[in-house]
Amino acid sequence: MLFSKGLLPLVLYLAPLLVAEIYDGGCTKRKDGPQILDVLRIGNGGAGLTGLIKELAHGFIQNRTDGCSKNPFKVEWVKGDTTETINKLKDGEVDIGITYNTAAELLAIQNDIAHGCNQTLACENCEHPKNQADEEFCGTGCACCNHKHDYPCYIFRDHFYLVGPPENLPDPHELKPKEDDVSSMFSKIYYAAENASNNDTVRFLSRYDKSATNIKESELWIKIGQVPWAIKYSKWYHQFLAYPLQALKAAIRLQEFTITDRSTYFTLINQDISLKDQTEVYKGGENETELLLPGHLLVGSKAQNETLARDFVEWVSSEDGQRFITNFHKDDKEAPVKRRNFE
Ligand SMILES: *[C@@H]1O[C@H](CO)[C@@H](O)[C@H](O)[C@H]1NC(C)=O
Ligand SMILES: *[C@@H]1O[C@H](CO)[C@@H](O)[C@H](O)[C@H]1NC(C)=O
Ligand SMILES: *[C@@H]1O[C@H](CO)[C@@H](O)[C@H](O)[C@H]1NC(C)=O
Ligand SMILES: *[C@@H]1O[C@H](CO)[C@@H](O)[C@H](O)[C@H]1NC(C)=O
Ligand SMILES: *[C@@H]1O[C@H](CO)[C@@H](O)[C@H](O)[C@H]1NC(C)=O
Repeated sequence: MLFSKGLLPLVLYLAPLLVAEIYDGGCTKRKDGPQILDVLRIGNGGAGLTGLIKELAHGFIQNRTDGCSKNPFKVEWVKGDTTETINKLKDGEVDIGITYNTAAELLAIQNDIAHGCNQTLACENCEHPKNQADEEFCGTGCACCNHKHDYPCYIFRDHFYLVGPPENLPDPHELKPKEDDVSSMFSKIYYAAENASNNDTVRFLSRYDKSATNIKESELWIKIGQVPWAIKYSKWYHQFLAYPLQALKAAIRLQEFTITDRSTYFTLINQDISLKDQTEVYKGGENETELLLPGHLLVGSKAQNETLARDFVEWVSSEDGQRFITNFHKDDKEAPVKRRNFE
């Protein structure tokens, strides 16, 4: 039975976690000014946590109200991972979703839960769409190529890092960042971790929370034919449910490997340089497309104010909106590095 009595308290516990933050773009209501009624609700996980949604909200409100002078409105960030966000689009609880799983997004479009952008899928030739996501969308064959399709709107890429203890893996598995791709590194970590003569010194920390980072990590294991979370008890696969920065700090203190994202790593640099010195970046999205993850935008079919939602899509895709993404960094004045978390 799907909803046994035992499950009910868990459902109730999760239900109130809805609104995370509301942004007015600096346009506070004037005493004699118009009431602010319109709210654009954006569902997302990681980019909300790092503050990118806030920046985009600010830029969009400023742009569309011409510096707060006309039709003020608010933007609300509703926290949720990709699965939760698509469910909220379906139930009309958010107007826009920013999500990280192309297959799930395409399914949402097919099922009329949401719409993306009208895009032409480029193909090298009729038989082969340019990438796997396109192929999932249209299969092979000419029908799909070079025609317009409703497709998730691509707005930025998230960057991941494979980090771990600086002393590297025991022989003969040493990671060679210049030669190894991330798959061979995962393979080496796996065999070193499974090797009994290493006495459980090689461990991997998994966020295990369906976050974009966790999904990316899972894909990397599956790619080498391993599913460490499917084993009832693994000595080396450490499932640690926590916020990104807590998870990274735990991995460093425990000398475990993990996948983190670039903005979390730079937050660590700003907060705790000594901890940062105890870890090494073995691979990053800069050098390995496998460690990049496209963030897509969808407009819900039940969006409250579709014009406003479509306006947001148009603005984020414009030069003005993209500028906010490339220049994004935390408003931490002491920051020794200008962060570019997304591009
Ligand atoms: C949508 O929101 C904008 C901005 O607040 C507002 O000007 C417009 O009237 C709204 N449209 C509808 C149909 O509510
Ligand atoms: C997409 O573009 C085509 C060709 O310009 C047009 O016929 C179609 O109505 C558009 N679809 C949407 C959803 O905008
Ligand atoms: C297991 O680890 C030991 C010591 O690090 C190493 O000598 C041996 O080659 C490893 N075995 C395999 C199968 O990798
Ligand atoms: C990426 O490559 C550049 C140039 O080869 C190098 O300086 C940098 O350290 C590499 N970054 C990562 C994260 O591996
Ligand atoms: C708002 O953004 C658009 C791009 O969508 C840009 O052309 C326009 O100049 C911007 N306007 C203001 C007032 O910033």
